[in-house]
Amino acid sequence: MLVKNAKFFLGGKITEKDILIEGERIKAVGSFSGKGIDASGFLVLPGLIDAHVHLRDPGATHKEDFHSGTRAAIAGGITTVLDMPNNNPPTTTLERLEEKRAIASKKAVCDYGFHFGAGTNNFEEVKRAKPGSLKIYMGKTTGDLFLPDEKLIFLHFQNFPKDKPIVVHAEDQAIIETEGRTPLAAQVAVAKATMLAEKSGRTICIAHASTAREIELAKKWRKSLVETCPHYLFLDQEKIRHLGNLGKVYPPVRDEAERKKLWGALDSVDYVSTDHAPHLPKEKEKGAAGFPGLETSLALMLDAYNKKQIGMEWIISRMCENPARIFNMRGKGKIAPGFQADLVFVDLRKEWKVRAENMQSKCGWSPYEGMSLKGKAAKVIFRGELVLDGEEMVKEIRGKEVMQ
Ligand code: DOR
Ligand code: ZN
Repeated sequence: MLVKNAKFFLGGKITEKDILIEGERIKAVGSFSGKGIDASGFLVLPGLIDAHVHLRDPGATHKEDFHSGTRAAIAGGITTVLDMPNNNPPTTTLERLEEKRAIASKKAVCDYGFHFGAGTNNFEEVKRAKPGSLKIYMGKTTGDLFLPDEKLIFLHFQNFPKDKPIVVHAEDQAIIETEGRTPLAAQVAVAKATMLAEKSGRTICIAHASTAREIELAKKWRKSLVETCPHYLFLDQEKIRHLGNLGKVYPPVRDEAERKKLWGALDSVDYVSTDHAPHLPKEKEKGAAGFPGLETSLALMLDAYNKKQIGMEWIISRMCENPARIFNMRGKGKIAPGFQADLVFVDLRKEWKVRAENMQSKCGWSPYEGMSLKGKAAKVIFRGELVLDGEEMVKEIRGKEVMQ
């Protein structure tokens, strides 16, 4: 396959070249004759990598499953997702990991990887399962995964290979129980986790930082890596008031002042994930926490780029290159010879309105419903094949596991 007249970032500069694809990989960039897909009028990005999604499969496939969730990813320009372990039952044993692998290998239409759950007593199991990433919950949330004390966190920090990432849900349970899910609950947990990481000589990833202070604390001792999510950047308490119970997410969306400060700390954010956490509206009414996000994250970022709030290179580094590096995915996250041919053509001029009824996710709602955005994924090439063309998902290609 040949992509003609592709505008993309190469070595920090925007360039226009043809991209020659052979099989699933980029063979060369340059000038080639022959017919191909014309990328004129689009900006071409590497397929996005979303390192934090909850695809609910197995256990709650009425909310999402590996098929609907990875279709949602492709629709949003995301070609790789890393699934969280807080299923019912949680992914804390090799058998459950293997079960997930079997499901994903049949249903996923983008690439995928798995975070393994850190349990109170699964240290040997973690060693046996050899997952690519470990997830630690310092505060209680959807599902039962939770580590009740610092000793267990420290033991997992020691037990897990230092060259693999540990992702921490940093909300301190004791503070949650005294004053709720305040910024302090998140900040205390970040400070604790980062100090324990320093003590054990390892790097950790702080999931979904919602305040600038968390980022500051994460970088203070041993530089923890920091993730944030679009809902902390584009929503605040005022903006979600109309959502009522739909607006519940852990950690919570903060107020306008915190949101502004978060924007001020973006240089120190290492990667952006969606934390796509789908629940049905009727479950939200009963208190379920979480937002869907796969089909809006890139578009929100492109809209911010159009408004000159954020640079394109920041978007590419935080949503493509950095997650590939942090989560040990070779051959991903860049447009260069030898890399996997996962490409997103973005239409920066496309004006559209967020409508959950047009989405692939099973959950059927979006916290951004009705929002007007400028910029969207217009075409997606996954493993060398055109899978999204405009509003149409024209083909399904089986995804493969990454980060093993
Ligand atoms: O709001 C949330 N939803 N926060 C979490 O930590 C988990 C997630 C879910 O899985 O529903
Ligand atoms: Zn999550």
